[in-house]
Amino acid sequence: MDIAVIGSNMVDLISYIERMPAEGETVEAPNFAMGCGGKGANQAVVAARLGSSVRMVTRVGNDIFADNTIANFERNGIDTTYVLPTEATSGVAPIFVDEESHNSIIIVKGANALLTPDDVRAAEEDIATCRLIALQLEIPLETVYEAVALGKRHGIPVLLNPAPAQPDLVLAKVRDCEYIVPNETELSLLTGMPAETMEDVRNAASVLLDVGIPNVIVTLGERGALWLTADGEHVIDAVTVDAHDTTGAGDAFIGCFSHYLVADGDVLEALKKASHYAADSVTRPGTQSSYADAEQFERLRGA
Ligand code: RIB
Repeated sequence: MDIAVIGSNMVDLISYIERMPAEGETVEAPNFAMGCGGKGANQAVVAARLGSSVRMVTRVGNDIFADNTIANFERNGIDTTYVLPTEATSGVAPIFVDEESHNSIIIVKGANALLTPDDVRAAEEDIATCRLIALQLEIPLETVYEAVALGKRHGIPVLLNPAPAQPDLVLAKVRDCEYIVPNETELSLLTGMPAETMEDVRNAASVLLDVGIPNVIVTLGERGALWLTADGEHVIDAVTVDAHDTTGAGDAFIGCFSHYLVADGDVLEALKKASHYAADSVTRPGTQSSYADAEQFERLRGA
């Protein structure tokens, strides 16, 4: 197996609205869409669509959403051995996207909150055959820490996407990650430093290097991305597109980066492809519904 994603799955309930409601206001949404989401599942689906073999470790609920989520993993060729049924509701995410493509997301973790360190240990033998572990923060932090420790035990590189931002994340417990990939907001929250100008971003990112994480990759939306190591930095330019729905673009970036990192081992090239892939995803509505497959992405890159 190429990649183990230990993380969340959600059902995205997306309302397309003209503008965000003010407090106490009711607004009408002209359009609604329901789709499979969750940061972990999104990243797994991207990597699988691009050709990686992916094992998902996650928990689904005992409701009408669970079968659909499992069927979706299977349709995308993802190994579901560790998609565990749980006496809880499935994770759901009401999402609001306005006409300027700004989004607001509420996550109700449901079964995702019950993915435990024991679940990770129970899957250890199979996770240990993977070449990369990808983690996000929609599952309990103790489970994330266990997965980082497992990666270290087996010499598997771990990529942590610290999203959504969690003030309680203990950096010392994730210092054994090989890659950390925050956006500006997450970077600022993790370090307690501003991350507005490029200089701010560099200063805050170097705090993560000092913690001991060798590769800090900050996604900067329209400004591209910054990859920092002890040896220097690379700025990855953004690809300009007409954005319709940016929901799940960060997951598109990370899933694509993970795929090419494992497939080719060239970090900079993988980042450039990830930037292109994420930009393409925002031209279509929805989260997983906006992700290209390998053939579509090849065509796009050749265009
Ligand atoms: O990153 C986008 C994702 O965040 C959505 O799919 C939603 O489910 C939330 O997890």
